[in-house]
This record gives sequence, C-alpha cells and structure tokens, in this order.
Amino acid sequence: MKTIEIDGKTFVETFDAETITGWIQNVANQINHDYEGTDPLFVGILNGAFIFAADLFRRITLNSRIQFMRLRSYDNMSSTGQIQELLGLEDKDVAGKDIIIVEDIVDTGTTMHYLKKRLKDQGAKSVKIACLCTKPEALQFEDAKPDYVGKDIANLYVIGYGFDVDGLARNLNAIYTLKK
Ligand code: IMP
Repeated sequence: MKTIEIDGKTFVETFDAETITGWIQNVANQINHDYEGTDPLFVGILNGAFIFAADLFRRITLNSRIQFMRLRSYDNMSSTGQIQELLGLEDKDVAGKDIIIVEDIVDTGTTMHYLKKRLKDQGAKSVKIACLCTKPEALQFEDAKPDYVGKDIANLYVIGYGFDVDGLARNLNAIYTLKK
C-alpha cells in the first residue's frame, strides 16, 4: 500500500486517479442531464477545488460560464467555524442565475451553509452544490448537504487531488487518508 509522510504524519493511498476520474464523469453526467437546455453559472471555490473544477468543467456540455470565489474556513487541519471571503462575486454576476457551487470537500458544511445564504442574498435563482468528496458523519448543516457528490468518505483527513495539508499535497494524483 502506498504511503506518504508529510509534516510527520502518515497518509495512505485510498483512491487512485482512475477511480477519481470515474466519479467526476458521473457528476458531470448528472449535471449535464439535470441542467439540459439551461446555462447555469459554475462557481469554483479556491483554493482546494481548482483541480476538481477544471476536470469537471471540461466534461460539462452545457453553454455555461465558470467563475471563482476564494473562501477560508480551515486553519491547517481543523475547521475554524468562521468563514472569510477573500475573493467574492459581484451581485450582477449572481442575480437571477442558477448556480452550481463547485467545492472540493464538504466536511462540517459551515462553508456551504454560509455560501448558499450569501448567493441567495445576492439574488441567485437557485443554488446547488457539487463536490468531489463529502464526509456525511461530520455534516452539521442540513442545507449544506451536497446535491452532486463524487464520493462519500469517512470522517478522516484527506490530501491529494486538490486537498491540502498546510498548502502542500494538492498536486498528488491520488487521494490519501491520514493514518489513525
Ligand atoms: P467545512 O466548512 O467544514 O465543510 O469545510 C470545508 C473546507 O475545509 C473544504 O473546502 C476544505 O478546504 C477543507 N477541508 C475539510 N476537510 C478536509 C480534508 O479532509 N482535507 C483537506 N481539506 C479539508
């Protein structure tokens, strides 16, 4: 089994690139089907979702645009419960739009709970969430439950494929889970 050491912690390879590609194609197929004939706005959440957003968006066959927001809720390896909006969207970009948030991982749901309300307050017509992974056991907000999910995972810290630990490991081509 392949392992990686970062910051004195051991992470074990859990999902390989081919498996992840399959999840992303499934999510794209569902969105292409559900939004057929419409032009939803995709909103990628930086930094973590940039790899998932690029892979997902290239599989979208709708006549859509993508924009990015930058939010921060995590301080190294734990959720702070506070959201900082480091890069936002203007009301004119959001008003009247069907929005699909593209998030790397929904953990406690604090970030998505905040963002759904924020985008609705800015006049979005509808807001749905697509994420690469979610940790159902950690979810604390019902309205943050993602609509499109690559994979439900255990409530353990993961790195790789956009997921970081202190900014590192985003470039790994597979997902690795913290060894207990
Ligand atoms: P939430 O607000 O608690 O749902 O946390 C969401 C954000 O925390 C995600 O966008 C990630 O940036 C980060 N995050 C949560 N769990 C993990 C993890 O296991 N690995 C890396 N980042 C994570």
